[in-house]
Amino acid sequence: MSNPSQPLAKHVAVVTGASSGIGLAVAEGLATAGAAVVVNYHSDAEGAEELVARVRAHGGRAIAVGANVSEEDDVVRLFDEATSAFGRVDVLVANSGVQKDAAIADMSLADWNTVIAVNLTGQFLCAREAVRRFRAQPAEGRPARSAGAIITMSSVHEVIPWAGHVNYAASKGGSRMLTRSLAQEVAVDGIRVNAIAPGAIRTPINKEAWDSEAALEKLLRLIPYGRIGEPDDVARAAVWLASDQADYVTGTTLFVDGGMTLYPEFRDNG
Ligand code: BGC
Repeated sequence: MSNPSQPLAKHVAVVTGASSGIGLAVAEGLATAGAAVVVNYHSDAEGAEELVARVRAHGGRAIAVGANVSEEDDVVRLFDEATSAFGRVDVLVANSGVQKDAAIADMSLADWNTVIAVNLTGQFLCAREAVRRFRAQPAEGRPARSAGAIITMSSVHEVIPWAGHVNYAASKGGSRMLTRSLAQEVAVDGIRVNAIAPGAIRTPINKEAWDSEAALEKLLRLIPYGRIGEPDDVARAAVWLASDQADYVTGTTLFVDGGMTLYPEFRDNG
């Protein structure tokens, strides 16, 4: 039996948007679980290199690779660099995501396009490349039962409508069906595809929602479990979904949201 504290030993994982926030915690969590990690970043090379140094200091394997996930050539290069460093790829966490919030009448086409390009097209391009690589790798020498695992980083907003954020909610709703349709398509290849839908997690993307007492109090009304999420909450879910522990799990979304999707406003109403 494999070492339970290293469920991802011998796995190679590519994590996009891993220089900060949820991506960083996920990459670190996968590394702690034994995976060699490819820490993709867009602009924060320093954040990525710091993580790589920390992983190496703990005896792990990691490299940082700059690439824009919405650019086809960049994504191919990202996987090429992963393969030349570590010989194979077993796990993709398509995590990169941005918000460009605005009321509909004020939302620019540029802000619509950027969010769809990074959050949705980025997941498509990375998943497509991962599937190509997983299919080409020989079954012999695989560290996992599956031929590869893809995790898309979704959001509670794959199901919760979000006024003032139509670009973001549309990207995550799209990601929900990308994930399910792809899972259906590649199950025959032994490839698993799942999503993680975080709720409010304490990261730079939603700082405004937690960095004052008043904001946090308002936010907590939406979270039955009574606390904001931490990036590690998501990292633990990612390690599980990537590992053989989740070998029969495909085409689903794991909500990591403290109950945010449970319609908390109905607690005393309706
Ligand atoms: C968003 C955050 C938000 C959370 C819950 C996430 O997908 O990126 O800004 O706090 O959903 O609404």
